[in-house]
Amino acid sequence: MMQEKIGLRKLRKLYVAFFESKGHKRLEPASLIPENDPSVLFTTAGMHPLVPFLLGEPHPLGKRLVDVQKCIRTGDIDRVGNETHLTFFEMLGNWSLGDYFKKESISWSWEFLTDKEWLGLDPERIAVSVFAGDSDAPRDSEAAGIWHRLGVPAGRIAYLSKEDNWWGPAGETGPCGPDSEIFYWKLDYEKPPAVFDPKNENWVEIWNNVFMQYNKTREGRYVPLKQKNVDTGMGVERVVMVLQGKTNVFETEAFEPIIRAINDLAGSADLKDNEFAVRVIADHLKAATFILGDERAVTPSNVDQGYILRRFIRRAIRYGRMLGIKDGFCTKIADAAIGIYKDDYPLMKQKSKFIKEQLRIEEERFNRTIEKGLNEFGKVAGKTISKELKELPADAAFLLFQSYGFPIEMTVELAKEKGLSVDKKGFEGLYRKHQEISRKGAEQKFKGGLSDESEKTTRLHTATHILNEALRKVIDPEIRQKGSNINSERLRFDFNFERKLTGEEIKRVEDEVNRVISLDLPVERLEMSPEEAVEKGAQSEFGASYPSKVFVYKTGGYSMEICMGPHVKSTGELGRFRIIKEESSAAGVRRIKAVLE
Ligand code: ALA
Repeated sequence: MMQEKIGLRKLRKLYVAFFESKGHKRLEPASLIPENDPSVLFTTAGMHPLVPFLLGEPHPLGKRLVDVQKCIRTGDIDRVGNETHLTFFEMLGNWSLGDYFKKESISWSWEFLTDKEWLGLDPERIAVSVFAGDSDAPRDSEAAGIWHRLGVPAGRIAYLSKEDNWWGPAGETGPCGPDSEIFYWKLDYEKPPAVFDPKNENWVEIWNNVFMQYNKTREGRYVPLKQKNVDTGMGVERVVMVLQGKTNVFETEAFEPIIRAINDLAGSADLKDNEFAVRVIADHLKAATFILGDERAVTPSNVDQGYILRRFIRRAIRYGRMLGIKDGFCTKIADAAIGIYKDDYPLMKQKSKFIKEQLRIEEERFNRTIEKGLNEFGKVAGKTISKELKELPADAAFLLFQSYGFPIEMTVELAKEKGLSVDKKGFEGLYRKHQEISRKGAEQKFKGGLSDESEKTTRLHTATHILNEALRKVIDPEIRQKGSNINSERLRFDFNFERKLTGEEIKRVEDEVNRVISLDLPVERLEMSPEEAVEKGAQSEFGASYPSKVFVYKTGGYSMEICMGPHVKSTGELGRFRIIKEESSAAGVRRIKAVLE
């Protein structure tokens, strides 16, 4: 197989075919916006939707899984602009849920990368890292030995600490373990050094194999899991980059049309000196296009995912201005991004009108204030500097946020360009006074992973199923779920309904849910095809694509839903259900927030 022919599509196809040939079943990709996982704002790795199964729940498709997952990592936002870091990327992943372990995982990685039948990459340009060992877990000589026997020389195997060679848990607690990362020497005109130095950026990490065999507890202990899992993640853009002999991801087909569109818009600007700005715009607007083109799209706002989306768009607009690009540019970049991905993510094409409309509105909104905001910033920065101070005061940052729509991160970046810092603590204080949800809460969510309070969220999850059915029984049989979000304190449930519920209706819904709770109905998990589930009357998510087998959670004879779980064993565990808020969420959509007491 000719290396240079492998591009985005071919790579995805080869990867899935390779792991299918090793007995893996293909998973449907999950939404970028996780449902019922309060600890993350976005899907940051293919393993996220699999957490319950890594902890031991049986998966309907079996023990060997493979997929292509769209991911967003806001944690990397400050590195965007270099050769390889992105906020949006596609991850190829294969999993063993208590089935094969290190030997197969490593040997298959090697075979897929180097065999001429598959990627045919040069084995001489591969280096790996393994876990060096510490008081929590031993040195991974086993993984090193497997690599060595496959042909990786000792000088190309680095032993690194937990900071580099340990994955997870994404949150405070959850599945985790030592990993082994695979690097490729990206310069095809230069022989790689005999000794692997992970700090040399010409070695690009392309794949991570995690040997997930521990559960980190709240006390910080690493307890062996019931089963030994493998969780891997390979970066599509980076692998295409090395396959095609490019030195940065922006020169690959994952970006090339977007970069061209930016160049066209910038016209005469000298882009050589503005490479960083061009890359930030390309990355951020691609991420924004994917968020808006997601099955659970959000729109720009000041909280949670909507805030991140706003940050991406507004930061891109600011960098656009630096290139002399003014109006109506986000939609043109979105067109280029949709053009690249439309065949593999058909929803993006179907939603292109919505995507562009939202970008247009957000761009117009920010354009109304950005000029004045930049002037205002110039004034306060000048004042700060003339007073020989180093920190921009909190009230200035808050004014920029409140009156001119500058995300705090943008003010921090502007200030940094002038050698100043920003009083972020003071800003947060002012912000909290004005907002319902603190930014800090949202920032914590980027870290991701299982919720610490997983028991509470499990109970709220089961209560959500009962509420979903209760609304149909008590209010209107046409009601369907339009969204759900759970954290350890409350559930939030969106549904189609044209008007506000009356106080009496709210009471009736509460009584109905509490009635079902008091019946102590068993919650059962069944396994069937999605067609059979719908036929049996199970609720399903509109427009979702399901695998050939799904779980259906049945609450006694009361409700039935296609769902990945987890749930409590019986409704008696739930406590008392109380609705704390009923409000509008969007046109024709109502939102209920409720708690269990
Ligand atoms: N979950 C692992 C990662 O994202 C594979 O690197």
